[in-house]
Amino acid sequence: MITVLNNGKLADGLPIVVRMSTSLSEFPGLAKILHSFAELLEKGWNIENLLPFQESDHVIWVSTETEIIGATVFSFHPNMNHLWVSFSFTDPQYRKRGVNRTIYRYIEIQARARKLKYVGSMVHADNEERMASYEKLGFSKAMIRMHKAL
Ligand SMILES: CC(C)(COP(=O)(O)OP(=O)(O)OC[C@H]1O[C@@H](n2cnc3c(N)ncnc32)[C@H](O)[C@@H]1OP(=O)(O)O)[C@@H](O)C(=O)NCCC(=O)NCCS
Repeated sequence: MITVLNNGKLADGLPIVVRMSTSLSEFPGLAKILHSFAELLEKGWNIENLLPFQESDHVIWVSTETEIIGATVFSFHPNMNHLWVSFSFTDPQYRKRGVNRTIYRYIEIQARARKLKYVGSMVHADNEERMASYEKLGFSKAMIRMHKAL
């Protein structure tokens, strides 16, 4: 099911629509997400075993009049009291204009509506832009995954 969450504008005045789907296959920008994930794979970050997509995932995304410019894939884990963000991307030409911040506002609304206590996510240690954007959204480092290549 696809729901319109908001009709609004970015801080710079660009008109946008925020939508949510309750399954991955209903999200019309799946190719963009996979493309963005492929760009991270191509950095050699050894994330092949962390493919973060499942059909039951929800997606919140932002579109202009003509295209999807950013999205976040997430799922609810009531037994663990958290909402898990598995992937986010913003189209490179729209980065640092508040697209991800806008999406995140609605992610948190979803988590609070289900009375969940945390929002969690995994970030590669070299993904400085993601780390920076999460910190700006109020996240702090919780667990460090250690790794040794054999
Ligand atoms: C990470 C990503 C989704 C951020 O999206 P975005 O739409 O550019 O983020 P926003 O513009 O909403 O930024 C939110 C806050 O983070 C800050 N921020 C975003 N990118 C930043 C960067 N590269 N360096 C420092 N701060 C940054 C912004 O300044 C903003 O803070 P402010 O509101 O106080 O000004 C985007 O850079 C991206 O798609 N990266 C490639 C894919 C990726 O790595 N995904 C995450 C995998 S888990």
